[in-house]
Amino acid sequence: MDSGALLFKQSSIRPGQQKQETLTARGIAQAMQAMNCRAVGIAPRDLAGGIDLLKEIQDKQNLNWLSMNLVDPKTQQPIFIPSMHVVVDGTGITILGLTDNQADRGKDANYSILPWQEVLPEAIARTAGSTDMVILLSNYPEKINNEIAGTIDGIDLILQSGHSTSNKPPNKIKNTLLAQTGARGKYLGLMHVNWTENGQWGENISDRIRAEQNRLDRINWQIGRMEKRSRDKNLENDKRYKQLTMEKDLANKKIAALQKAKEQATGEPCSFTNQFIGLKSSMPEDREIQAIIDQTTLEVNRLNRKRVHTSARQQNSVLSTLAGWQQCRQCHPKQVSFWQTTDHAGAWQTLKQDNQQFNEDCLLCHVTLPYYDADRVRAENLLLQLPASLNTVGCEACHGPAAAHSKDPEVAQTILPNEKTCLQCHTPDHDDNFVFSDKLGKIRCPRG
Ligand code: HEC
Ligand code: HEC
Ligand code: HEC
Ligand code: HEC
Repeated sequence: MDSGALLFKQSSIRPGQQKQETLTARGIAQAMQAMNCRAVGIAPRDLAGGIDLLKEIQDKQNLNWLSMNLVDPKTQQPIFIPSMHVVVDGTGITILGLTDNQADRGKDANYSILPWQEVLPEAIARTAGSTDMVILLSNYPEKINNEIAGTIDGIDLILQSGHSTSNKPPNKIKNTLLAQTGARGKYLGLMHVNWTENGQWGENISDRIRAEQNRLDRINWQIGRMEKRSRDKNLENDKRYKQLTMEKDLANKKIAALQKAKEQATGEPCSFTNQFIGLKSSMPEDREIQAIIDQTTLEVNRLNRKRVHTSARQQNSVLSTLAGWQQCRQCHPKQVSFWQTTDHAGAWQTLKQDNQQFNEDCLLCHVTLPYYDADRVRAENLLLQLPASLNTVGCEACHGPAAAHSKDPEVAQTILPNEKTCLQCHTPDHDDNFVFSDKLGKIRCPRG
């Protein structure tokens, strides 16, 4: 299961990226299906490609979108399945989808999103008696999910997504457990649930009785020792003794209450274990999923290769500030020769070997574009048609645009890179062991 915010990075598609982003979205859906995903909630971001794309994915990739409050504006009826019922090991489970209605969704009149207060209480009421367990897939922020758990009874588990990048150990509000896995596919959340007739989350009562019994034994031992040591003294007025006897009474009462609860409960309370599995790059790839990724990225590359010839480069571009590495050779031959031995010089070639040299999601870090301003670079349509001299992580990726400096080095200065410069590209996603001081040594240009 997933609570949504899967398909797109933002709530709208960037200009010119319609095809690449919908291709990628389809690939993601295909991979989710290959991983046996039973149900996916719809977050506002999943709507970036429009309702029709979601419908198409539902039909072609067999992915079950769930949302009870994403409705047709005319009929007010859900556009996708509001909930589904599955039986796992004899336990009937109802899964409900809820879409965050707080985002501004622009002018799309194809759908509206109702606030949870209008639909959720009724939907939960309808499940009463007909299911053993209720799971809500919600992409509302945590604060609202907490409010939902606090005000509506009958939801056993809320899986949330889309608003935070961190893992959160499950936390319980009344009888609702709330759980969340870090965003963007970095972790897998693995939760084992032991759901019993009891229907209430709790620690195992027998364990609690045993713990209480141990406590009582310790108290009795302390009381016994005090009595033994002060045979003649009157202990009635001893503060410590009084305290211990009071604790003894309390422990006895607690054990009695727990034993009674145990007799009355139908079965043991429900329990779970939870684990986060970090999806590190060192983990072996799954063959089937890798094939989907390869196919998707190859299609993206093919698609963009065609675009190269149809999209016009804008005038007044950031390109005019860049010289390209060949320009530097005349005055800095030593540094150029050194740089050519570093991996940076072959960064674009690396993409080409993978048939990814037209994938705009990769190019940003494998070419020379100084102000790491993805939006501007994309708006100017630069990535696909850089001159060969910039198709590499060249001098100006670290030293800044140097066209002016090359013409008149006395007047126009360059910059020297610091850690921040590197981190624009050496992000944890692409380099999970970047230590500046270590790596600097490998690429620092020679003096003179
Ligand atoms: C016409 C000769 C010439 C060209 C072409 C040239 N430079 Fe320079 N560069 C110089 C001179 C001269 C200095 C020393 C200037 C100074 O110390 O103020 C210098 C200094 C530098 C420095 C050191 C700056 C510092 O603060 O220590 C860097 C980095 C640099 N250049 C990068 C480049 C890059 C990158 C290119 C190509 C895009 C380039 N230069 C092209 C002449 C040139
Ligand atoms: C424009 C993006 C970009 C910037 C800025 C950048 N790098 Fe890189 N770096 C790359 C890419 C891409 C590769 C991989 C090239 C390849 O193998 O094809 C790489 C490879 C390396 C490598 C070799 C592989 C490794 O990890 O040992 C080192 C070392 C390195 N970079 C250090 C740095 C340092 C230090 C800085 C900052 C001073 C820096 N880089 C700035 C993109 C960048
Ligand atoms: C945010 C910047 C960034 C983006 C985006 C990016 N890369 Fe890289 N890439 C790097 C850096 C940094 C390295 C060097 C890391 C290292 O070697 O430790 C690298 C190294 C590589 C390498 C050589 C090292 C290896 O892992 O075998 C390949 C291949 C590669 N990238 C392919 C891609 C492809 C394909 C894409 C697009 C799907 C992409 N990169 C997108 C920054 C990026
Ligand atoms: C990955 C980042 C990176 C790239 C790419 C890079 N440099 Fe450097 N360069 C550095 C660093 C780091 C220093 C040392 C800065 C310092 O001393 O603080 C340096 C120093 C220099 C200096 C000054 C040397 C001195 O006398 O102190 C020059 C000149 C220079 N680089 C030119 C170039 C040229 C030309 C290219 C392209 C062929 C290039 N650099 C590519 C990172 C880079």
